[in-house]
Amino acid sequence: MAVAILLVGGFGTRLMPLTKNTPKPMLTVAGVPVTEHQLAMAKAAGITEIVLATSYLSEVFIPYFGDGSKWGMKIKYAVEKEPLGTGGAIRNAAKLLDTNESVVILNGDVLSSHNLSEQIRQHEAHDADVTLHLTQVADARAFGCVPTDSDGRVSAFLEKMENPVTNQINAGCYVFNPRVISTIPLDTVVSVERETFPELVDSGAKVFGYVESAYWLDIGTPRALLKASIDIVKRSGDFLAMPGSTIDPTAVITGGSCIGPDSSVGAGAVIDGSIIEAGCVIGPNATITDSFVATGAEVKNNVKITSSCVTNSEILSIP
Ligand code: GTP
Repeated sequence: MAVAILLVGGFGTRLMPLTKNTPKPMLTVAGVPVTEHQLAMAKAAGITEIVLATSYLSEVFIPYFGDGSKWGMKIKYAVEKEPLGTGGAIRNAAKLLDTNESVVILNGDVLSSHNLSEQIRQHEAHDADVTLHLTQVADARAFGCVPTDSDGRVSAFLEKMENPVTNQINAGCYVFNPRVISTIPLDTVVSVERETFPELVDSGAKVFGYVESAYWLDIGTPRALLKASIDIVKRSGDFLAMPGSTIDPTAVITGGSCIGPDSSVGAGAVIDGSIIEAGCVIGPNATITDSFVATGAEVKNNVKITSSCVTNSEILSIP
């Protein structure tokens, strides 16, 4: 059995203005927060104890997730007064876990359907210090890359480069041996990606790659967030209307759009490839395409919105 830490404390600057009042992991895809998709993924791998490592807008998580019993999990909260970076956050959150079990770390902004149980199994079979999920991308130039040797051991962490030596990239889900976490300094800003991992490899620690290229998406930008939601919705239909939403029969909802709970869509409105979160009001004959309408926002009658993020105070076009 393993336990988990979910990193959800970043500022999410690339998603402004959506992240002004909502932390990135609480933005919804296919009607529920990104974090909820990740809890389901962890649960499917047999994990029932999880610490949310929070910082920015930490107060938003507790009322929603509570003690986790609604999801059949035990959820605890570690709060950093100032963000400690990914490594510092892991060290701080691990204080709440009294365990000798493997600790799974999930980046709060990644949706992945890789086989986490198998990643944990391989980690334990190797008696590894850390095992990172690596995914293969067509063009690795925009990422740092992570080469492995013939035994699957990570040989280096390389920065972005014009001619990457491999198309394997860090996919943001790690299994740690708990004794390695205790070597990260307490109350100190540390990046696992830039400091801990390269240092472990340089010192000869057993850092393994678990390579699997299942569905994987970093939802750090508005376009990626929309893609994630559309991908999930389209697995079961052309659109998704959450319980409590009201849609006029003459409205057209299509392209994998999702209408959140307690939102209403007026007569003749057209919504295509978009996320409408909870409690929104979409006026008659409004047209919304490739856009994210955040909780509680209103789009007035006849307004046309394309490729934009809409909150209750602003509209910003998506680059
Ligand atoms: P951008 O500002 O748009 O880059 O987003 P971000 O702040 O979320 O940063 P990034 O995408 O690099 O973060 C990866 C994951 O780690 C996200 O799930 C963040 O919530 C989380 N994270 C980043 N920094 C911290 C931190 O200092 N503390 C905690 N608890 N989580 C963090």
